[in-house]
Amino acid sequence: MTSTLNKYKNLSIDIEEGIATITICRASKLNALNYATLEEIQLAIQEIQENPSASSVIITGEGSKAFAAGADIAELANLDEIKAKRYSQHGQDVFASIENCPKPVIAAVNGYALGGGCELALACHMRVAVESAKFGLPEVKLGTIPGFGGTQRLTQSIGKAKTLELIMTGDMITAQEAKELGLVNHVVPTHDELYRKCREILMKIATSGPLAVSMVISSVNAVYSSQERGYQKEAALFGATAKTADFKEGMNAFLEKRKPNFKGR
Ligand code: COA
Repeated sequence: MTSTLNKYKNLSIDIEEGIATITICRASKLNALNYATLEEIQLAIQEIQENPSASSVIITGEGSKAFAAGADIAELANLDEIKAKRYSQHGQDVFASIENCPKPVIAAVNGYALGGGCELALACHMRVAVESAKFGLPEVKLGTIPGFGGTQRLTQSIGKAKTLELIMTGDMITAQEAKELGLVNHVVPTHDELYRKCREILMKIATSGPLAVSMVISSVNAVYSSQERGYQKEAALFGATAKTADFKEGMNAFLEKRKPNFKGR
C-alpha cells in the first residue's frame, strides 16, 4: 500500500510497506535547506513518529544531483548575529528530532551532501550513498562554520583529526572516501541500488521488535548526551561569524558567483 502526505511545499512524503520516504524537493537549488524546509522536516518527522503505518524513515533529495547542498545561502546572507544564532539553534533542534526519532532513519545520499546537507545526513541513524555522492562541510569558504551540529556529529562519527581537516579545508570527499572514514555505512553504484539497499536494511530491522529498536537508538544516543555544551558553543560561534565582514563577503561572493576576498575581520 502506498500513501502520500501532500500538505508539504518543500518535501514529498510517501509511505510504502511501512517505510516513510521524505524527499526534499528543491532540485533547482540543489535541495538547499531553507527555513521553511527545515520546519517541514521537523513536522514530517513528528508526524511519521506518530503514524502507526510507518515503522522507519528514508530521507533523500529530489533528482540525481544533490541530497542537499547546504543551508540556503540566500537566507544566511541576511542574518545578523542574533538571528544567525537562532537559525543555528533551530537547525540543531530539527536535526536532534531526527537523531532522537524512535524509528530508524536512513539518509539515502543521492548526490551532494554539503554543509547543512552533510549535517542532515549525519543526524540520521545510518547513511547509504550512491558512488557519485560528495560530502563536505565547506562553511569556512563562506566565512562561517557548520551550524547544524556538524562540528559535533562529524567528530563523533570520524574522530577529531579528520574532522578538523575536513572542516578547516572545506574539501569535498567522495562517497568511497566517506565510507573509509566511517561516515557512510554503504556505497552503492546506482540510484536504484540506493533505495533498494536502504529498503533492505529497514525491512530487516522491521522483523525485530520496534520497542527494542527504539531503545537501541535511545541507548546509543545516550553515549553523546552529555555533550550539550558543544552544540551551544557551535550555535554561539555560528552567530558570531554573522557579525564579521568575512561572513558577508563569503555569502555574497557565492551568490554573485565570484571568489571571496577574505580580510580576517
Ligand atoms: N544555498 C542556496 N542556493 C544554492 C546552494 C545553497 N547552499 N547550493 C546551490 N545553490 C543554487 C545555486 O545558487 C544555483 O542557483 P541559480 O541556478 O539560481 O544560480 C543552483 O543551486 C545550482 O547550483 P550551481 O552552483 O549553479 O551548481 P554547480 O553544479 O555549478 O555547483 C555545488 C554545485 C554544490 C558545488 C555548488 O552549488 C555549491 O558550492 N553550493 C554551495 C555549497 C555550500 O557551500 N554549502 C554550505 C552552505 S552553508
